Amino acid sequence: MAKKIYMTSFKGGTGVTTCCLGLGLALGEAGERPLIVDGDTKSGCALIMGGLKNMQVFTLADYERGACRAKQTILSHNKTPNLCFMPSLGLKDLSAAVKAVADVDGLFDYVLLDKIAIDICDCAMIVTEPFLPSVKSADCCRSALYDRGIKDIGLVVNKINGGQILNGEIMTAQEIATVLHVPLKAVIPEDLTVSAGKWRSGTQKAFAMAADTLTGKKQSYCNVLKSYAGMSGYFKRKMRDKI
Ligand SMILES: Nc1ncnc2c1ncn2[C@@H]1O[C@H](COP(=O)(O)OP(=O)(O)OP(=O)(O)O)[C@@H](O)[C@H]1O
Ligand SMILES: [Mg+2]
Repeated sequence: MAKKIYMTSFKGGTGVTTCCLGLGLALGEAGERPLIVDGDTKSGCALIMGGLKNMQVFTLADYERGACRAKQTILSHNKTPNLCFMPSLGLKDLSAAVKAVADVDGLFDYVLLDKIAIDICDCAMIVTEPFLPSVKSADCCRSALYDRGIKDIGLVVNKINGGQILNGEIMTAQEIATVLHVPLKAVIPEDLTVSAGKWRSGTQKAFAMAADTLTGKKQSYCNVLKSYAGMSGYFKRKMRDKI
C-alpha cells in the first residue's frame, strides 16, 4: 500500500504544489513510484508545473461520471517516468478523488495529495514560508488537522533565505518547527528560478534530502546558510538589500 501524504497549507501560495513536484521528482529519481494527485480542479496547476499542460486524456471529472477507470487518468512525467500525475480538472465532487486514489493504491509507493482527498491520507505535511503570516496560518492548519484526527504531521519550510536568517529578519527552519511543535521534514531554499520552471541544483539537492528523510534512508536538511558564509556571502546579503 502506498503512503498517502496530504500536502497542505491554510495560506495560499506557500509552495504546496511546488513541494509536491520537487518531492515527487526526487522520489522518482530515487527509484520510488510517486503519484501526485492534483488538487487544482480549476486550472490543473500541478500538471502545468510538471510540464504536462493539456496532455491529459481523462481527468478525475471523467472518472467521476463513469467515463474511465482511475488508472486511465494517470500521466507519467516525461523526464522522470516513475513520477505520475492524476489530474482533477473539472472535478465537482471531491470525494471521487478519494475513491480514485484507493483504486490505484497498489501501483505506487507514495501518493502526494496536493490539497485533495484528505480523508484517505496516512499523514500530513504543512508547507510554510518563513514569514510571520505564513507561520501563524501554519499553526491554525496544524490545529485543524489535529481536530480531524490527523496526528502524524510534518513541516516543510519553503522559500527560506540564509541571508535573511543571518540578517535577523526571519527565524531558522528549526526554530519555526519548534514554535509550531511540528517535526521538521524538509528545508527548501528560496529559489527565484522556480517560477520560471527551472530549479537550481541546490533546490534539487534540498528535495533529494527531503525524499531521503521521507523514505527513512537518511535524515538531513539543506543548509541554507552555506552560500552566505564568508566575505562573498556578506556582499551577497548586502546586494540583496540594495536590489
Ligand atoms: N522555494 C521557492 N523559492 C521561490 N519561489 C517559490 C518557491 N516555491 C514556490 N515558489 C513560488 O511561489 C509561488 C506559489 O507556489 P505554488 O503554486 O507551489 O504554491 P501553492 O501553495 O501550491 O499555491 P496555492 O495556494 O495557489 O495552491 C509560485 O510562483 C512559485 O514559483
Ligand atoms: Mg497549489
